[in-house]
Amino acid sequence: MPDPRTVLPGTPKRIGVAADHGGFELKEYISRMLREAHYEMVDFGDKQPKPDDDYPDFVVPLARAVTRGEVDRGVAICGSGVGACIAANKVPGVRACLIHEHFSARQGVEDDDMNVICLGGRVVANTFAWELVRTFLHARFSGAERHRRRLAKLVKLESSEAA
Ligand code: RB5
Repeated sequence: MPDPRTVLPGTPKRIGVAADHGGFELKEYISRMLREAHYEMVDFGDKQPKPDDDYPDFVVPLARAVTRGEVDRGVAICGSGVGACIAANKVPGVRACLIHEHFSARQGVEDDDMNVICLGGRVVANTFAWELVRTFLHARFSGAERHRRRLAKLVKLESSEAA
């Protein structure tokens, strides 16, 4: 079992985080754990816990940074994780999912090339959320033909819906 605070070779290195007030505390915790584990952490806000802030204002810039390759992967958090997930998936090229268990944290990357993990700050405990993030970051897209075929259909859908 690798040291949980060590970045494994080949893992994504630059990780973006974003949260509204509902996810602020968890974002601060995940940010600290990412730094301690020697990831390069980029904070898209909110920078202060403001009870009236709106998750799209932080999650959409994070999602754009993922698709532009400015960060390798994203962690998007709101109270339930639902709003963050909906917002992130509006950005073409983002494959975000609300995750509550390890199987999907891993398989979502291996099969579906998930590039943003969404968490509910009012739903999951900090330590468990960090374990889910680690599983997500340690997982790799398998590149299997059937998964590429499915993803290609989604890419096509994104362009045809945008037209
Ligand atoms: C904000 O109170 C809350 O609605 C938001 O953080 C999130 O849970 C939305 O899905």
